[in-house]
Amino acid sequence: MKYQCGIFDLDGVLVDTAKYHYLGWKKLADRLGFPFTEQQNEALKGISRMAALDLLLEMGGMSGRFSEAEKAELAAEKNQYYLEYVSRLEEDELFFGVVELFERMKKAGIKIALGSASKNARLILDRLHIEDYFDFIVDGTLVKKAKPDPEVFTLSADRLGIPYAECVVFEDSAAGIQAAKTAGMLAVGIGTRENLPMADYICRGVGEFEWE
Ligand code: BG6
Ligand code: MG
Repeated sequence: MKYQCGIFDLDGVLVDTAKYHYLGWKKLADRLGFPFTEQQNEALKGISRMAALDLLLEMGGMSGRFSEAEKAELAAEKNQYYLEYVSRLEEDELFFGVVELFERMKKAGIKIALGSASKNARLILDRLHIEDYFDFIVDGTLVKKAKPDPEVFTLSADRLGIPYAECVVFEDSAAGIQAAKTAGMLAVGIGTRENLPMADYICRGVGEFEWE
């Protein structure tokens, strides 16, 4: 057995919350008066809340328009929209095959970790009742350097004592795939080859992944 640990991103990999992050940013862009498409949102996936805000404002031609305090308010506004969406999150929004994969991994003695940039990650895990599957959880409150820095994944591997080359990362963002590759981990992209050109493999969902 070569791979001893699976490190999972949360939004867009385990649960269909990436769309709520998009809708939250879209609502903010609407209010500020500029368009924001799903394709533009690809670049915001995986990165921290403040980095995403900077990118969004750049896309809207509004870079440098706001003070740090105003930007903190805009980020909080987006988070409010996001929290409204996820307050209605149902357990069936967990992606197909996630629990089955976790069960297979547990039986095979493979470690399970979370590697998410989100400060809301614990709330989502709690709502979905999947927290107990994880041997270690890294979320946006724990990392100092956001994706594409590999810290979000290496923290788990270090804590679990597993060499990076024996970890598989599941990611739907280009920043996360880059982070996994920089760490020397196997990078499984959840999405399309077009959006995730650096991934070692592409799956439409984690349920498709065959753990050998
Ligand atoms: C990532 C999402 O998981 O978390 C990003 O892909 C999001 O879209 C980031 O910006 C930070 O999330 P939060 O919940 O801390 O704003
Ligand atoms: Mg994601």
